[in-house]
Amino acid sequence: MKSTAIASKLALLGGKPVRSTPFPPYPTIGDEEKKAVMEVMDSGHLSSFSASRQGFLGGEKVQAFEQAFAAYHGMTFGVAFNSATSGLHAAVAACGAGPGDEVIVPPYTFTATATAVLHHNAIPVFADVDPVTFCMDPRAFEAAITPRTKAVIPVHLLGHPAEMDQIMAIARKHKLKVIEDCAQAPGAKYKGRLLGTMGDCAVFSFQESKNMMTGEGGMLITNDPDLAESARMVRNHGETVVAGEVRKYLAQTIGWNYRMTEIEAAIGLVQLKKLDGLNDHRRLLANYLLKRLPVIPGLRYPVEPAEMHHVYHVFGMTYDAKQVGIPRQQFIQALVAEGIPAGSGYPRPLYHNPLFQERMAYGKQGCPFTCHLYQGTVSYAKGICPVAEDLCADRALWTFVVRPPATTADMDDIIHAFEKVVEAIPELKEQNHETTV
Ligand SMILES: Cc1ncc(COP(=O)(O)O)c(C=O)c1O
Repeated sequence: MKSTAIASKLALLGGKPVRSTPFPPYPTIGDEEKKAVMEVMDSGHLSSFSASRQGFLGGEKVQAFEQAFAAYHGMTFGVAFNSATSGLHAAVAACGAGPGDEVIVPPYTFTATATAVLHHNAIPVFADVDPVTFCMDPRAFEAAITPRTKAVIPVHLLGHPAEMDQIMAIARKHKLKVIEDCAQAPGAKYKGRLLGTMGDCAVFSFQESKNMMTGEGGMLITNDPDLAESARMVRNHGETVVAGEVRKYLAQTIGWNYRMTEIEAAIGLVQLKKLDGLNDHRRLLANYLLKRLPVIPGLRYPVEPAEMHHVYHVFGMTYDAKQVGIPRQQFIQALVAEGIPAGSGYPRPLYHNPLFQERMAYGKQGCPFTCHLYQGTVSYAKGICPVAEDLCADRALWTFVVRPPATTADMDDIIHAFEKVVEAIPELKEQNHETTV
């Protein structure tokens, strides 16, 4: 049933907004997280990485969190990091990609997916995404493979699984390592399998906005013992400590300090127990919206193909201005005026950033793009990934507020705002016409 608000004037045109109070803040920190943090504080040890093999493996909470997170996924090893960015860097390093190598990534994702490749002096090569799921298009992935390709990083974007069967088959055919970027999709499933369990390794983010969070933090999971040990070394100054021996300060390779703290791990243990419930909450809200949002040509809501389990990190829609009748930005402005946070998502495909256009990462000589070991001719020209370019330019429409602790009453406001804006399209169209003639 339509709300009485629909008949009223659009807030963008001076009417009363559907909603004048903000959506509930995210994330929610419960007593359990607070208690876990206080336990760590009382223990007196906030990190506990130290000189023994145990210490090399991390503090008590870090190791417990790694084991619990790996077990949740049915995987053997978890390696905790201070972010997904550092975890991705370690994954690239542990997969053996470096100077002269290429790693294929999507351009419609957060910066870190591609810069993790540059961090290890390898070259990111962009493969376009699917216009409906926003995830890497397997055909574009295969077309981007060269003799220099070492690995691929499919991203499960906005909570939606990438097309893993096809990606894995192509990767195996070409002997490429697969690093799943699960930053936005912990607990999501592809054909019944949890994301992060299909590639050679996977990396998750626990940054504050994510479906489960520790403030900042990340985790790499894998079944490969060598990959896990390499990742631990990257995390810990390139050192390893052999069981039964004391630390020798022996840097076997280049490494960093990418270690997670005990406080973060303690929060992670609590959040992991909540993850399925938090995702169920997101799914309930998303499905509530999907049943009720107005259906009009040109506005497509998130899809969940059969056998997929979407965890709606973002409620990502696509927009066709020609079919809807008004520009995307105007539709967004109208929603925002009604009190519904909405936006156009990533503003540009990653290769449009100066970092790639000017090819300046390390120093002023263009390293690693100009490295003599790199024999390739990667292109970052406009038009290489048309789907991602269109999504950024005028097709994507996102809202973040479909998440706990919001309720279905909050979702009703979103529905009413969409209905109100959709109903006012002829009026807005008319106005646009008047201002352009
Ligand atoms: C797809 C993707 N990959 C990687 C990252 C990096 O995560 P972190 O902020 O934990 O470094 C993010 C963070 O937003 C992300 O969305």
